[in-house]
Amino acid sequence: MRQLVAGNWKMNGLGADLAELEALKPAMPGAACEVAVCPPATLLARAAWIAKGAVALGGQDCHAEAAGAFTGDVSAEMLKDAGAAYVIVGHSERRQYHGETDAQVAAKAQAAWRAGLHAIICIGESEAQRDSGQASEICHRQIEGSVPLEADGANTAIAYEPIWAIGTGKTATCDDIAAMHRHIRGCLVERLGPKSAGIRILYGGSVKPANAAEILALDDVGGALVGGASLKAQDFLAIIAAARKT
Ligand code: 13P
Repeated sequence: MRQLVAGNWKMNGLGADLAELEALKPAMPGAACEVAVCPPATLLARAAWIAKGAVALGGQDCHAEAAGAFTGDVSAEMLKDAGAAYVIVGHSERRQYHGETDAQVAAKAQAAWRAGLHAIICIGESEAQRDSGQASEICHRQIEGSVPLEADGANTAIAYEPIWAIGTGKTATCDDIAAMHRHIRGCLVERLGPKSAGIRILYGGSVKPANAAEILALDDVGGALVGGASLKAQDFLAIIAAARKT
């Protein structure tokens, strides 16, 4: 399975920052992994113009409906039209600050597929949940609620992002990551059966050049979802270069 390294720019980036996207292009033909950049929606069309197909693009969220009276929202069809091939759904920042539920995340994943986008469905426990020994149960529940039964390796990746590791500089230990990815794999098999084998499980949370190689070498780590370190081409390229070669 080819790894996927996706950059989530979050609410960062003005037109001038597209120079970072431009700077990724020369390295793309030699990349061992699939690469995607998810800029804010305002930059997507301009990013597509710059990427010219050399770097895949994604949205950071989508509405479940294709169109309608939903002021301020962006549909999966609009992302596709602007040049996206991927969309992140259910990011913990959406769940936390916008109150998104598992059912809404599942509907967004289905919207992504309807538009022809690859869904990156995010799950992950909070620090309090981990400290009280609930991490495995939380991820199990989020998979049951957020991953529709039609998911397979061609349309979906899962991103495991422990909330306490996002933007904090704290990374889960390699043992913790490997154990949780094993657990998530088991949950996917239980929910989806054998077809779940093709679904990549990405790790996210303070992935940076210094730790990318050891994380991306772990069993059943199918790639990385990178926040802060995706904003600078030099750092993001170092993470891309750390992807598994096979
Ligand atoms: P950081 O890499 O900045 O910790 O963010 C991770 C993340 O939330 C990616 O979606």
